[in-house]
Amino acid sequence: MPHLAVADLTATYPGTDKPVLRDVSLQVEKGEIVSLIGPSGSGKSTLLRVLVGLLPPNSGSVRIDGEAVDYTSRRSLKNARDRLAIVFQQYNLFQNMTAMGNVTIAPIRIKGWRRPEVEADAARLLAKVGLADKHASYPDQLSGGQQQRVAIARALALKPEILLLDEVTSALDPELVGEVLDTIRVLAADGMTMLIVSHEMGFVREVSSRVVMMDQGSIVETGPPAQVFDAPETLRAREFVSRILRH
Ligand SMILES: Nc1ncnc2c1ncn2[C@@H]1O[C@H](COP(=O)(O)OP(=O)(O)OP(=O)(O)O)[C@@H](O)[C@H]1O
Ligand SMILES: [Mg+2]
Repeated sequence: MPHLAVADLTATYPGTDKPVLRDVSLQVEKGEIVSLIGPSGSGKSTLLRVLVGLLPPNSGSVRIDGEAVDYTSRRSLKNARDRLAIVFQQYNLFQNMTAMGNVTIAPIRIKGWRRPEVEADAARLLAKVGLADKHASYPDQLSGGQQQRVAIARALALKPEILLLDEVTSALDPELVGEVLDTIRVLAADGMTMLIVSHEMGFVREVSSRVVMMDQGSIVETGPPAQVFDAPETLRAREFVSRILRH
């Protein structure tokens, strides 16, 4: 049974009539890293938003370990949000809290977990993302790449089973991209299941178990990175790959 199974998912933004996701189906196995690529506006972010309940689907299904998520049920949605965590391009840390404070607030305040355990876990996570010496730093004392790594540690502090990353390096200066990609590599080596949206094609190729290419709300190609990048089967995939490889 796949860890995450999306079947025939269709979604439309409120106040519009054209679906931005059309019959999207994909599966992610435990420990897999699946990357979503495709042109701007193809629906990559929307798919992640639907998965975490930020946009209700019109039809189709999302299953986690075989259990269907009912996006109209608060209880089901809460359960899904316990299991999936999302990190966005804009990391939105609390400016008045240290790195440690940002990582520990939700586990303590929302989950009600005990502070000593939460802080020990946060220290482990901050070390994992390369910020062992930055517990007491406030966001404005950290670089963009460091802030994004705090945001990743913050997401992991809630112990998700699947991490969704939406262009987490896009807002960063080029010299800071590498350190965030290194953090994702560490999580990959740990066996974290991830669904990644990224424009860093070299990284996608290196780290992904599978690559899923979207265009105009649909999946147009899916396969191992070598197939999708070197020998795409569909015309739309070939066009996209030749366009990105020219840059
Ligand atoms: N809040 C919204 N309301 C209405 N339409 C939206 C909204 N957000 C996105 N869209 C539309 O949905 C489509 C898919 O957008 P989405 O953000 O998922 O694309 P994307 O693949 O993530 O693109 P990018 O690579 O630029 O981030 C686009 O046509 C976009 O204009
Ligand atoms: Mg996007």
